[in-house]
Amino acid sequence: MNSNNQAVLILIKPDGLKKSLTGNILTRLSETKLEIVAAKMVRVSKGLAEEHYKHLKEQKFFPELVSYIRGEMHDRKKVMALVYHGKDAIKKCRDLAGATNPEEAEATSIRGSYGRITTSGLYENVIHVSSNEEEAKREIQLWFNPDEIIVDMFPVKDVIEKEKKVKGWA
Ligand code: PPS
Repeated sequence: MNSNNQAVLILIKPDGLKKSLTGNILTRLSETKLEIVAAKMVRVSKGLAEEHYKHLKEQKFFPELVSYIRGEMHDRKKVMALVYHGKDAIKKCRDLAGATNPEEAEATSIRGSYGRITTSGLYENVIHVSSNEEEAKREIQLWFNPDEIIVDMFPVKDVIEKEKKVKGWA
């Protein structure tokens, strides 16, 4: 990676999917001219959700946050996970996303345009964007395997997998 090349994890959350905002959000993000180096739809397990937000475990909204990212509030039990890569990727994506609190986000930003706060006080802010390089690395390694990312951004090692049951085409 060049010194200021960064990778960032983007999640289009279940409210974004339910509101049919995927195309719109990807179009907005394309303004950054960054490269998409990984993308997939993910059915989020409780374990993945809790690990992703583990720094917020003590917050009273934590159970609701886990439920939200798992799609239990929007009847869309999936998120779209992407990795964007390029110069100043984190700042560029966070600027377009707007402030975490949708009420504080600039009106023209993604969260300012489409986010809301629920009556219980949870931010439904449509999109997650890693907050810094350390978090981006942790989150990307949590959501993706090395072979799902088309550039080598972090060191890898060979792992011999023991017999593992996977689905194949019938
Ligand atoms: S940030 O901006 O990512 O650095 O924010 P951080 O403090 O690390 O993460 C907070 C995540 O919790 C979600 N959330 C809330 N935060 C604060 N207050 C309330 N009420 C609240 N409800 C939800 C917030 O949206 C952050 O998740 P992401 O996925 O980053 O948006």
